Amino acid sequence: MNEKEEKERKDVPVFIEAETIYFITHNSEYINLYVKWANDPKVRKYARDIVPIRVDDAKRWFEPSERGIPDYIGFLIWHKKDKKPIGIIGLGLIDWINGWASIGISIGESAYWNKNIATEATELIIRYAFNELNLNKLQAGIAIDNIGSWSVADKIGFVFEGIQKHEMYVDGKYVDEKTYCLLKEDWMKRKPKK
Ligand SMILES: CC(C)(COP(=O)(O)OP(=O)(O)OC[C@H]1O[C@@H](n2cnc3c(N)ncnc32)[C@H](O)[C@@H]1OP(=O)(O)O)[C@@H](O)C(=O)NCCC(=O)NCCS
Repeated sequence: MNEKEEKERKDVPVFIEAETIYFITHNSEYINLYVKWANDPKVRKYARDIVPIRVDDAKRWFEPSERGIPDYIGFLIWHKKDKKPIGIIGLGLIDWINGWASIGISIGESAYWNKNIATEATELIIRYAFNELNLNKLQAGIAIDNIGSWSVADKIGFVFEGIQKHEMYVDGKYVDEKTYCLLKEDWMKRKPKK
């Protein structure tokens, strides 16, 4: 890392990083962006954001909460080269006893779709989930029509578990969901040795 990159990195509250992106902590400074993404028809279609979200609703997300054991841990995805946030990713429904969580991701800036960014971000959150949080199993449930999303799961090597019939109601019809999982032991076997 050269001096300029080092300085830029210090200006961004980096939590962890991959090649193209950083994960930074959620930040109310970008509240208008969160709201824009959550209401964008293209972005929200399979993210199940059916009810419109106002900036005033979103402000509540940033109110201080009790610092206990969270059942959600999420990040803003920051594009290193373009120096801006482009989406969000998180682990939800975290079950600390059984070591289980569900992955959710939304690249809110659709101009960045199909550039491998969700794949890179998902790989990064997997590493964090297994190596830092000591989770054991990650799960994803994806609408069968959301080819971009289940392609990410396939590319990474998630195991296809099955189809949940009529799991979602999207654009006037019931849509089946593909469920995927990844066990830490399987990920450990194939992750590149550093
Ligand atoms: C789904 C989403 C996260 C994918 O992000 P992304 O950064 O485009 O994903 P990637 O580029 O890493 O991988 C997408 C893959 O799907 C492929 N793909 C996308 N649409 C496709 C289509 N209609 N037919 C065939 N392949 C398709 C891409 O070519 C790419 O594969 P490749 O790298 O082998 O070319 C992004 O589109 C998004 O945020 N959508 C809105 C929110 C959402 O649906 N979130 C997921 C809810 S489960």
